[in-house]
Amino acid sequence: MSKFPFFKPHISLRYEQLNSVMLFETLTRREFSTIDAMLHERDYVKDELIFDVGEDSQAIYIVLSGAASVARRANGVEEEIIRLGPGDFFGELALLDNAPRSAVARAAEDCRLVVMFRADLAALADTHVALSSKILLQMARHLAHIVRQTAMRTGATLHV
Ligand code: CMP
Repeated sequence: MSKFPFFKPHISLRYEQLNSVMLFETLTRREFSTIDAMLHERDYVKDELIFDVGEDSQAIYIVLSGAASVARRANGVEEEIIRLGPGDFFGELALLDNAPRSAVARAAEDCRLVVMFRADLAALADTHVALSSKILLQMARHLAHIVRQTAMRTGATLHV
């Protein structure tokens, strides 16, 4: 757990910060105000663990400032898969399929992340169907991007 408390900045400031982030870019301002109370800001210091591979997933993370790193661990050594900067998000895979975390996430620099918890996302699906569909569609698009990138990098085809 981070030793820093959550912060709650004013909604319009947060809207300015987050409305161009891929995860939320399809939301109207009114929709954004519905989820604002579900967004928690949290600070991490460089090298601090955000979550470990194999953990249960509780949340999705969006980088507000600084940088985070996603890495695989082999023989105790972490090898970076991707570095994430402002506007990038991660942690959606385990959230979508309920599987354990597929990789380790750490603060690559001191960073501020926006955290949205699984329980809040699930509640949104009951109370605001269209809004939750927009967020889930953005997660699916991001996942498609990861699959295509991985296929290009490894030379694998997308046929199943
Ligand atoms: P999750 O499995 O919940 O936790 C680790 C996260 O790292 C994962 O979700 C993705 O958001 C991200 N991730 C894992 N593998 C890759 C990859 N190959 N490219 C980009 N992001 C990844």
